[in-house]
Amino acid sequence: MEKEPLAETAVNQIEKVFGKYPGYRRAHARGEIYEGVFSANGAAAPLTTAPHFQQGEVKVLVRFSHSSPDPTWTDVMSPVKGMAVQFQLPEGAVANIVGVNSPIFMAKTPEVFTEMLSIVKSFKKGKPRVAGLAELVVKYPESRAAIDVLKKMHAPASFATGRYHAIHAFYFIDKDGNKRPIKYEWEPEAGVDTLSLTKAAVMPIEYYKADFEDRLMQGPVHFYLNIVLGEQQDPTDDPTQEWPVEREKITIGRLSIMKKVGNAEMVVFDPTAVTEGIACSEDRILNFRHDAYSISHNRRTNGE
Ligand code: HEM
Repeated sequence: MEKEPLAETAVNQIEKVFGKYPGYRRAHARGEIYEGVFSANGAAAPLTTAPHFQQGEVKVLVRFSHSSPDPTWTDVMSPVKGMAVQFQLPEGAVANIVGVNSPIFMAKTPEVFTEMLSIVKSFKKGKPRVAGLAELVVKYPESRAAIDVLKKMHAPASFATGRYHAIHAFYFIDKDGNKRPIKYEWEPEAGVDTLSLTKAAVMPIEYYKADFEDRLMQGPVHFYLNIVLGEQQDPTDDPTQEWPVEREKITIGRLSIMKKVGNAEMVVFDPTAVTEGIACSEDRILNFRHDAYSISHNRRTNGE
């Protein structure tokens, strides 16, 4: 299928701002992949026919990452961390949930995201140009909430203690074809814990990797998968907005991460990869990510 030209422009723009690092993902360049098992408790079964959310177990790959497109940044220069989960279904099918430790995104549309990159032309020591930031908030007031989250954000103390949000809405579809909007969130069984700035300042470059491997020596690392149920008035097309906190939340399963996987960096975690019983919402950023990730994947697997 023809790729959206803007997706190519967006990936080129990321390379322009952050630099080009052959073989690496164009965002979340540095990360580690683990394998594990997801145990669905059956609570989602009345809402979706998705095979991995019926009671039972399915194998998963999990990639934790530091958000910078520049792999030379230290761990603490990227307070935004990623958690990408791939459910491995029969006959080679996959379904992904790709999250970060922020409940909202900074741009409502792909056009705004691409323009933002052209305004914030450079990052110095992990910080965007301040003048550029101020310009952005004036032009796109809906982006203020995410920029405020980023400004105040403390990195999780460990990959195992972040709460990760897939941000976009998806639809669960039941056996009669009824659709219900939901959002996903991974809740760490170890509890949410963040790093103080003074502690963060003295962390070695690969602190998170070492910490996670230490934890795995003690046993599996666990997360709960929660869904937040959207009501009719909740926006399903706007990643800059959170749904009200009082929305019903259901735990639909538990993830157990067991061990590191050797050579899986070539995997692509496309957030639009869903199965029967799930549909992507009309959120344009979500749908745009399909082409952007595929372009990045093509480049990095071609050694570019
Ligand atoms: C216009 C919006 C966005 C663009 C253009 C974009 C672009 C990218 C690209 C090019 C990659 C590398 C893909 C690969 O080579 O496999 C990536 C990875 C990633 N992105 Fe985004 N992204 C966007 C929005 C988001 C949002 C809203 C989230 C939060 C849920 C997110 C979270 C991640 C994560 C966690 C990864 C790493 C996935 C992995 O471990 O393979 N991105 N992004």
